[in-house]
Amino acid sequence: MEKKTPIITIRNLHYTYPDGTVALRGVNLTVFEGESIALVGKNGSGKSTLIKHINGLYRPEEGEIIVDGLPVVEENLREIRSRVGMVFQDPDSQLFCSTLYDDVAFGPINLDMEPGLIEQRVHEALEKMGLLEFMHRPPHDLSFGQRKRAAMATVLSMRPKIMIFDEPTSNLDPKNEAIMTGLLRDLPTTMILVSHDLPILYQTCQKVVIMREGKIDQILSMQEFISDVNLLRTNGLDFTFRCDCCHQDPKHHRYLTEEQEISESFEPSPP
Ligand SMILES: Nc1ncnc2c1ncn2[C@@H]1O[C@H](COP(=O)(O)OP(=O)(O)O)[C@@H](O)[C@H]1O
Ligand SMILES: [Mg+2]
Repeated sequence: MEKKTPIITIRNLHYTYPDGTVALRGVNLTVFEGESIALVGKNGSGKSTLIKHINGLYRPEEGEIIVDGLPVVEENLREIRSRVGMVFQDPDSQLFCSTLYDDVAFGPINLDMEPGLIEQRVHEALEKMGLLEFMHRPPHDLSFGQRKRAAMATVLSMRPKIMIFDEPTSNLDPKNEAIMTGLLRDLPTTMILVSHDLPILYQTCQKVVIMREGKIDQILSMQEFISDVNLLRTNGLDFTFRCDCCHQDPKHHRYLTEEQEISESFEPSPP
């Protein structure tokens, strides 16, 4: 059997916010290289708090995290953040330059890449996100869906080995949702996806990690997860609409793109 390499190891992670709210109560989790993980659970179960520990935005109160062989500690943060790309729910928290180009170049510049390589990475990321034509625009001039993709481009330009998304399809219209789903499905990296949107999770992830009250409650395959309506319901997953996906073979993931028109101008480039 193929040997699996752990790329994220989390051991006994505890975290309490400064106001005394206990958010994580002993999380243990191993993510293997190349896996696509759906991280689910009710609101407040600790998903966002957990992922922010993986690139060192939050520091554990107790426990440890190892990413790609490196402990998540102060002296490794720069290296870890080049390997772990995090895309937040609100794209505007990741777009702060006067042009889209500058925002997407920000990461590579901070990694001290050569100017020629920076330009190449920016072009590549914008092209993948279908945003090349907007390169010189201020990000706030773009639509919400375009800003969501722009936030993804700011991370892609660093070519991280691991990508983590918090609600990447929330508030997107069907067209942008279909585009985003296609992009997530084609990512060549290890991926953790936090979402309540079952069709998106089903189309992009093979494994489901369920959080409950600051702990990992269950780990199961996507097939096992979608076969358990009670489990879906208790974890607040939106499955009442479009649940035809639940009866399809995972190899036939095409219903979103068939039902929803994808903008003719958008043609994702091959990975
Ligand atoms: N900045 C914060 N200050 C205090 N408590 C917080 C903060 N952010 C989240 N929490 C609390 O921590 C717990 C876990 O929240 P969170 O990680 O955001 O859950 P999820 O992403 O699963 O909805 C909840 O009880 C939430 O209210
Ligand atoms: Mg959250």
